[in-house]
Amino acid sequence: MSKAEIGLIGLGVMGSNLALNIAEKGYPVAVYNRTSSRTGAFFENAGALRENIVPCTSLEELVAQIKPPRPIILMVQAGKAVDEQIEGLRDLLAKNDIIIDAGNANFRDTIRRFEELEGSGLTFIGMGVSGGEEGARHGPSIMVGGKEDAYRRVEPILTAIAARFEDEACSAWLGEGGAGHFVKTIHNGIEYADMQMIAEIYGVLRDGFGMPAAEIGKIFEGWNKGRLNSYLVEITAAVLAAADPKSGKPIVDMILDRAGQKGTGRWAAIEAQMMGVPATAIESAVAARSLSAEKTIREAAAAAYGPAVAPSGKAPDAAFIDDLELALFAGKVAAYAQGFAVMEEASSEFKWNLPMATIARIWRAGCIIRSQFLSTLAQSFEADPDAENLLLIDHFVGQMQEAQPSLRRIVAHAALAGQPAPALSAALGYFDSFRQARGTANLIQAQRDFFGAHGFERIDEDGAHHGPWGSGLAG
Ligand code: 6PG
Repeated sequence: MSKAEIGLIGLGVMGSNLALNIAEKGYPVAVYNRTSSRTGAFFENAGALRENIVPCTSLEELVAQIKPPRPIILMVQAGKAVDEQIEGLRDLLAKNDIIIDAGNANFRDTIRRFEELEGSGLTFIGMGVSGGEEGARHGPSIMVGGKEDAYRRVEPILTAIAARFEDEACSAWLGEGGAGHFVKTIHNGIEYADMQMIAEIYGVLRDGFGMPAAEIGKIFEGWNKGRLNSYLVEITAAVLAAADPKSGKPIVDMILDRAGQKGTGRWAAIEAQMMGVPATAIESAVAARSLSAEKTIREAAAAAYGPAVAPSGKAPDAAFIDDLELALFAGKVAAYAQGFAVMEEASSEFKWNLPMATIARIWRAGCIIRSQFLSTLAQSFEADPDAENLLLIDHFVGQMQEAQPSLRRIVAHAALAGQPAPALSAALGYFDSFRQARGTANLIQAQRDFFGAHGFERIDEDGAHHGPWGSGLAG
């Protein structure tokens, strides 16, 4: 007799941890991995949770072991592997079975998969899962897209395995089709911006003042008790405090300055551009990561231009450290404003009706960008659900009034010292452009009309107008 309530395919780190999490919450789970030895090893190491785990060596066996209608989670590499698994399952499954893609899929692939499964009787869910290994094991943040009734059928399991903020599970249905994977993509875009801005602040202290890693770690540790309280600031403090067992030096000093990326941050930037929504802090963070990978060419450029300003040798004073904290906070507000603006636009373009307050709420625990800030954000969206931009919500207007002079001073400091702060600078540029009632696009319009007769609007009359350019430049 079939025993499992749910199936899970793909026993990599995330899949294994998610399966253990499900088993621990009392739901028998059937598991399958293409390489059977991994399934065996996983089962062997599952300890007491084995009684809720059914290891399977074929897809047929997996399907037979789950009570219908069967929910099956795919935790395989995003892309081709997901399509292959769906193909393999299609003929084995029955009407109303649900395939749940829990990987970091591109939401456009998710939409395509919905279309491909339409009429098959099978149901599809695109589910963003955040929280890394620990989150998968003990409670991730879960962002679901698809048919709402499909979510309701798996909701008890998903809320049981999700992180909890106070008493609320960090799992929610966010909209149809690709909504869940889209929100996860923006989560990751924001994650890139958060991480990059933290790294820029670290750079100001390391390169501008020659401050040792452990001391910088202490500063982050202090900030984690205040308005910057967040998982990423907390782990930054821990990382900076850690010593390399081989050399005894701070481990961070022994790590190559070349960071990888799997694509979600880039997708966030691409989608923002496709929709015409400025997300410059996210874009800069993605670009900074790409440039980090160009180690050889950066070394050549460093040799060609010489080093930037040498460390002052002085310790930064308390006022400067406070400025750094506020600058990071202001940059964060701008980055989140951008991320939520992209979601706002996508919500209307794809008719998802994304619930912004709920998104902020399910990001309060479990996910990589969890922070105290997200609680404030959730409350603000609840109070003002139609807010057009986070920077226009009263609470954040007050916060930015206080923090933006610090962002300005830190960006200026970094620029004068020749220290890169691309994401912080982009955040400041966005803020200054955003709050400028009369910008400079009047000149852009004139230029476009001059060379292409594109026409422009006037401030004093309706309609399209052309300038007195005659036949172009004289001579
Ligand atoms: C999360 C993380 C997770 C993963 C990303 C990192 O929310 O749990 O974002 O999805 O760590 O793949 O992306 P990069 O490899 O592009 O940094």
